[in-house]
Amino acid sequence: MAASRSHRFEHAAERLTITRKVRDRFVPGATQHRVLDSAAALRDSGRLISIDYLGEQVTDAVGAKATTTAYLDLLDALGRRADAAHEGVRPLEVSLKLSALGQALNRDGEKIALAHAHRICARAEQIGAWVTVDAEDHTTTDSTLSIAAELRTDFPWLGVVLQAYLWRTLGDCEQLAESGARVRLCKGAYDEPASVAHRNAAAVTAAYLRCLRVLMAGPGYPMVASHDPVIIDAVPALARETGRATADFEYQMLYGVRDPEQRRLAAAGNRVRVYVPFGTQWYGYFMRRLAERPANLTFFMRALVES
Ligand code: FDA
Repeated sequence: MAASRSHRFEHAAERLTITRKVRDRFVPGATQHRVLDSAAALRDSGRLISIDYLGEQVTDAVGAKATTTAYLDLLDALGRRADAAHEGVRPLEVSLKLSALGQALNRDGEKIALAHAHRICARAEQIGAWVTVDAEDHTTTDSTLSIAAELRTDFPWLGVVLQAYLWRTLGDCEQLAESGARVRLCKGAYDEPASVAHRNAAAVTAAYLRCLRVLMAGPGYPMVASHDPVIIDAVPALARETGRATADFEYQMLYGVRDPEQRRLAAAGNRVRVYVPFGTQWYGYFMRRLAERPANLTFFMRALVES
């Protein structure tokens, strides 16, 4: 996780062919053209998609504007697809990080991120796509949830991500469930201190299940973002208990992770949405995927030694 924040490591990793090989498993391409191809293949296999234009912690207004333009272009391209507009659940979605839209800028960062996100939501509305706001490290949670709440006044369909490892999240789930929001629940991918987050894997899973129960019992639309078999296996019973049909929630997984399980769930009649990242700013995302699973790191290190 420390390496994910190191510029030196980032420059070294970008130069290695082997990094690119392992990266391609999680990031299908740098260009819009490549991600649209991957998205089309996923749609053909019966899955829904959420596309993320990679980038985070933008430090200048020009970068924030460039990210916004990339999302608007992407939405225009998605809008030209036959399956864009849809009643009810929208098969196409974009996911965005407010830090990539200027949230951390010194002057008026929150206002700038809100304005950019608003433009993206308006374009998404036009083409019949959804937008979900990703969750970043805990220092941004209050700001992110308050920007999302403002956006939801104009775009009630806006989704927000909550991280089950944070102590605060059960309360956030209760509040958002009551408001009928679309909530993507994930475990959380940042290296957070024990003062704000569970640090033990079993405790995180238990917290996830408590949060999910609250979301499933509420009037909103829960999005179960996890690859964990313990969580996936618990969902049917939770859905029965809370009176939800398969159309009343969705499973979500990351591109390149447990693909056979994604296909199995979709073939069984469930909604499955795949989070597909693209762009050249893949480093932070890629390093979090390695940190999540020791086997990925071993695979990467072995390939590095053999290259
Ligand atoms: P866990 O990490 O326990 O993994 C369970 C099993 O899944 C593993 O044993 C392995 O088989 C498989 N697996 C999981 N991760 C893998 C990987 N990287 N490579 C290969 N196999 C893997 N986080 C965040 O902080 N903010 C956010 O906005 C989001 N957004 C988001 C969207 C979506 C759609 C998903 C699925 C996830 C996120 N995350 C996220 C990431 C999330 O917080 C978490 O880090 C990962 O999903 C891993 O947690 P699991 O619940 O999968 O369980």
